[in-house]
Amino acid sequence: MKGRRNGNDHADALKLDQKCVLVTGASGAIGRCISSALAMAGAHLCLVARNQHRLDITADICRPLGRRVDVALCDLTNETAIDQLCGRIDQTFGHLDILVHCAGTMGQGRLEDTAAEQLDS
Ligand SMILES: NC(=O)c1ccc[n+]([C@@H]2O[C@H](COP(=O)([O-])OP(=O)(O)OC[C@H]3O[C@@H](n4cnc5c(N)ncnc54)[C@H](OP(=O)(O)O)[C@@H]3O)[C@@H](O)[C@H]2O)c1
Repeated sequence: MKGRRNGNDHADALKLDQKCVLVTGASGAIGRCISSALAMAGAHLCLVARNQHRLDITADICRPLGRRVDVALCDLTNETAIDQLCGRIDQTFGHLDILVHCAGTMGQGRLEDTAAEQLDS
């Protein structure tokens, strides 16, 4: 249909050539979709989560698009692990241009019944 954009048009519109992007939750549903869109737009990626197998699936989707893709295991509730991740990003990319923070969990129940620890996790 005239005037309508498809997925590739959007990737073209969003030029991210050589940008370095950290995607947390890259092993999950939203993180995987965003990672592949970022790779299509030209970004280099650091993909972060805790599950190696699911992260590798995301990386396997992104790498054929020709970008640099680094996979890093990190529990984002662990400050020491986050410090190590920052050091790794520094060594691998030298800097970051964009953070896409998709890591999270979906709790069930009422907000007022939810413990602060669960909201932080
Ligand atoms: N999908 C929806 O319709 C929807 C709607 C509203 C809000 N959200 C929220 O958006 C976020 C992403 O949704 P999703 O559907 O992509 O969820 P998902 O498929 O369950 O993915 C969650 C991601 O978060 C990562 N993660 C969770 N805890 C982590 C931790 N401590 N350290 C590092 N990574 C961690 C998981 O990786 P590992 O398990 O490998 O560590 C996974 O990659 C969630 O917070 C969800 O509640 C989703």
